[in-house]
Amino acid sequence: MKFFLDTANLEEIRQAAALGVLDGVTTNPTLAAKEGKPFRELILEICDVVKNGVVNAEVVSVDTQGMLREARELASWHPNIVVKVPMTRDGIRALNVLHGEGIHVNVTLVFSPSQALLAAKAGAYFVSPFLGRLDDISEDGLGLLREIVEIYRNYQFSTQVLAASLRHPLHVVAAAKIGAHIATMPFKVFEQLFKHPLTDRGLEAFLKDWEKAREVLGEIVEPARPELVERAEARPARGTGR
Ligand code: E4P
Repeated sequence: MKFFLDTANLEEIRQAAALGVLDGVTTNPTLAAKEGKPFRELILEICDVVKNGVVNAEVVSVDTQGMLREARELASWHPNIVVKVPMTRDGIRALNVLHGEGIHVNVTLVFSPSQALLAAKAGAYFVSPFLGRLDDISEDGLGLLREIVEIYRNYQFSTQVLAASLRHPLHVVAAAKIGAHIATMPFKVFEQLFKHPLTDRGLEAFLKDWEKAREVLGEIVEPARPELVERAEARPARGTGR
């Protein structure tokens, strides 16, 4: 399963990327608006931080022609950009054209299996069902995800299912069990994936016990001797002696 961060905040993206488990980023107009800088600059900075990861950037036009203009522009900024278009008639029309041009499209704001089916038929690269927003109105977000994964498997659609609007770690785990290709999550949820009180308590006890027996156990790595470090630094690096 791929992990995307659902944010446009560079600091959060940097922190997640440094852990080596980040596969990409999803942004949307609301998230971009929070960052207070030109969109192009923001997206390119994100691309720079996630390196080979995918960066999703959304169009804001609602008509097909406008979407096409914006999508082509967004796709020209960086090869790792996937263009998000909303799940509307205009969006699906734009998707058809963009798919033909080889531009990767994420169909966003998907709330039903029929919408997901249309998106796959029109050539979506990603489809984004919004689980949390369905849960918010007492509908079954995970149920929708299950249906989409089943439908895509039946017809072997190549569209990847991107579980979006995830609100807590259990959403991520459930999405993985269902077989979503990608989970996109806010930084807070990403952080929560690490946490377990027994891990913290267990580590604390291990370290306390080690400390008590330290004199007998010795060191795993001998502390560096300053005179050796100085000598090594004074030596010219191999291959640079000329
Ligand atoms: C996905 O691409 C969307 O940006 C996101 O998951 C929306 O989530 P929200 O319901 O928390 O705004």
